[in-house]
Amino acid sequence: MQTLNQVKYLRAALNADKNRGSKIVLVPTMGNLHEGHLQLVRRAREVADIVVVSIFVNPMQFGATEDLDSYPRTLTEDQDKLDAENVDYLFIPNVEEMYPNGIDNHTTVANANLSNMLCGIHRPGHFQGVCTVVNKLLNLVQPSVAVFGEKDFQQLAIIKRMVSDLCMPIDIIGVPTARAHDGLALSSRNQYLSNIDRVKAPLIYETLQKTRDAIIAGSRQYETLCETAKINLKDAGFDVDYFDIRDQNNLSLLNNNADNKKIVILTAASLGSTRLLDNIRIEI
Ligand code: PAF
Repeated sequence: MQTLNQVKYLRAALNADKNRGSKIVLVPTMGNLHEGHLQLVRRAREVADIVVVSIFVNPMQFGATEDLDSYPRTLTEDQDKLDAENVDYLFIPNVEEMYPNGIDNHTTVANANLSNMLCGIHRPGHFQGVCTVVNKLLNLVQPSVAVFGEKDFQQLAIIKRMVSDLCMPIDIIGVPTARAHDGLALSSRNQYLSNIDRVKAPLIYETLQKTRDAIIAGSRQYETLCETAKINLKDAGFDVDYFDIRDQNNLSLLNNNADNKKIVILTAASLGSTRLLDNIRIEI
């Protein structure tokens, strides 16, 4: 694996690969890699010849009071893991390389409609930061395919929309959420959970599953299902940002008795200062 930190070297290496006819895939990450990230890399390896992984903790997607400074950075361990997966290139730019004119002066990309709901309400500006950096990474690498986790369902929907709206010739692949033995969705932020909160955390997935089972059993009382789920989580000590049942395609909220076939149940809830995200999709 070659580790590169400058755009010009990455481009030169990839141009040579493209001239040889190789198909390129990009897996953008913020590092602190766990099994979930490695599953993205393995999926990437299945669909292309050259696998590029980026590690960049993108300041533009963190709010002023969020954990940018304390976000876990474990480059040496990450490099070992990616080496073991036979990744071809690891791109690790610094902030100046990505934002040479400064973050505040940088051109931004956003989809206001999909961004100003769910996590976007609780993290203003977050998805603009995500879209901008992903757009930039896609332009730098110019892959045929890019791979993202389905755990961040809203992020994945926004990136798919950006690529479609801006006519970017790239297939976006979503990979199912990797889970711990007790169902908790893997996330770099899980390590912040106290021992007591780690025991409580799987209730998020259990509540999503119960809600899914009720819908599969025929309930269309979506608002009541969400209220019940929120009460369950709150009673267990979660601070719930949202628990919603929405249309998978456009993320619109489903009213009671709506007849949608492709549904997603999404939640974000915190235990202490650790914010957890999860979702379940249903095809009826
Ligand atoms: O999901 C993430 O890790 C980040 O939001 C991403 C897509 C790498 C952009 O910084």
